[in-house]
Amino acid sequence: MSDKDKIIIFDTTLRDGEQSPGATMNIEEKVLIAEVLDNMGVDVIEAGFAAASEGDLQAIQAVAKQVKKASVCSLARAIHSDIDAAAEAVKGAVNPRIHTFLATSPLHMEHKLRMSPDEVIAAIRDSVSYAKKFVDDVDWSPEDATRSEHDFLCKAIETAIDAGATTINIPDTVGYTTPHEFYDLFTMIKNNVSNIDKAVLSVHCHNDLGLAVANSLAAVEAGARQVECTINGIGERAGNASLEELVMTIKTRNDIMPYHVDIDTKQIMRASRLVSNVTGLMVQNNKAIVGANAFSHESGIHQAGMLKNRDTYEIMTPESVGWVKTNLILGKHSGRAAFKDRLKELGFDLGDNALEIAFARFKALADKKKKIYDDDLISLVGDGADQSNARVKFVSMEVACGSEVKNTAKVTLEVDGKQISKTCSGDGPVDATFKAIRKIVPHEVKLDLYQVGAVTQGIDAQAEVTVRLRTPKNVIINGTGADVDTMVASALAYVNAINKLQNYEEKIIPQCAVI
Ligand code: KIV
Ligand code: ZN
Repeated sequence: MSDKDKIIIFDTTLRDGEQSPGATMNIEEKVLIAEVLDNMGVDVIEAGFAAASEGDLQAIQAVAKQVKKASVCSLARAIHSDIDAAAEAVKGAVNPRIHTFLATSPLHMEHKLRMSPDEVIAAIRDSVSYAKKFVDDVDWSPEDATRSEHDFLCKAIETAIDAGATTINIPDTVGYTTPHEFYDLFTMIKNNVSNIDKAVLSVHCHNDLGLAVANSLAAVEAGARQVECTINGIGERAGNASLEELVMTIKTRNDIMPYHVDIDTKQIMRASRLVSNVTGLMVQNNKAIVGANAFSHESGIHQAGMLKNRDTYEIMTPESVGWVKTNLILGKHSGRAAFKDRLKELGFDLGDNALEIAFARFKALADKKKKIYDDDLISLVGDGADQSNARVKFVSMEVACGSEVKNTAKVTLEVDGKQISKTCSGDGPVDATFKAIRKIVPHEVKLDLYQVGAVTQGIDAQAEVTVRLRTPKNVIINGTGADVDTMVASALAYVNAINKLQNYEEKIIPQCAVI
């Protein structure tokens, strides 16, 4: 146990993170991410906004059931029906928490809420004390705090604590503040709210000006002991403060930031990859900590310095955040034990069944690709890789394309155990492939995103494809697929998305029976 002040890590990847355009996650995906967050030592997981939809409520319930250590939290507006839904969603958690909020800035009160300041104060008292009937742990946020009048903000906070709030979270909702200003705001709150010692002070920053992490750390230095953040910094608009940047700053600059966090930093890369895979939000190469270039040294001077002493250009080791040193590992002749061991080192402890399925895929990949890298292994066990329980399975495809031929794709899928083949032409091989899939499994969707990346470097790298579909009811689904052939990866990604559609109201697959 450290004698340094603990900073509570409150992760909102599954709530604010999910508010990133296109980042919708289904129940299974939320549970998968929550398990990783719980294992890495996150203290509070905000799993969603229960009142938003039945699906959100069920996802929070599933997370609450699965998570062993962390508190599980649902967001709620300051209305009873929202708080009822939040209470229902978190009631199975080991440590349930409700996070309720109400705007306190003149702009929001007048134009959005159309409430007078007195009405807002009454609603704060009412909503916090109502939430308190269900759980002991109530987090309250004055939305748009950084554009609120100081006297009113203090009165609102005092009211929330008086009504039973145990955490007071100060959000920079629009990413407007700067580090010095935010430090002063926290100091002002500590000096002027008479009962502030009865609650934990928390911070929640958005990245509109690129200052979310700097602002959060300024708040910590002024007394905040909880930080709200997301993996890869995803979130509404420009995103939230990134968990990995906050945690690694506190760890790396512990000389001037004498706090402790209970995060196993070696699991950061795994969490980052999982979130990127599930949401289809790629991590930029130069992103701090988790970007592909975060630990690569290009210039000759830097490389020479690194060879003499790593400290010359490295302030933290790649291993400390889960980048693994030996990158080239397995090949065609590697056995099950080596495969299992390496996956375990990468953080994937598979059961016997899942291991067998992944191993078969590994052997098939090793037939096509000589060198199997860690990232290839991760793609084998990643989202969409396991088709065994899916109703629609990719079987095979043939594509004709090029500048002199008509782009045509013949795709064979297995739908509920029955193989169906269709051939279509299109504006390009991808269009032809997707048309053929739609002919086999008729459904109406808009393709919002088609994105191709390389899993590793080199000419024989696997392509990693993400597709984002939007249904007529505005349900957004991401699907991913990886293969050495970009067209096969594209078909796998589309089929993965179609299978996920089953979890929503679009019951598209039964229509196949009429084909
Ligand atoms: O940014 C914000 O103000 C929020 C609150 C709900 C905490 O996300
Ligand atoms: Zn937010």
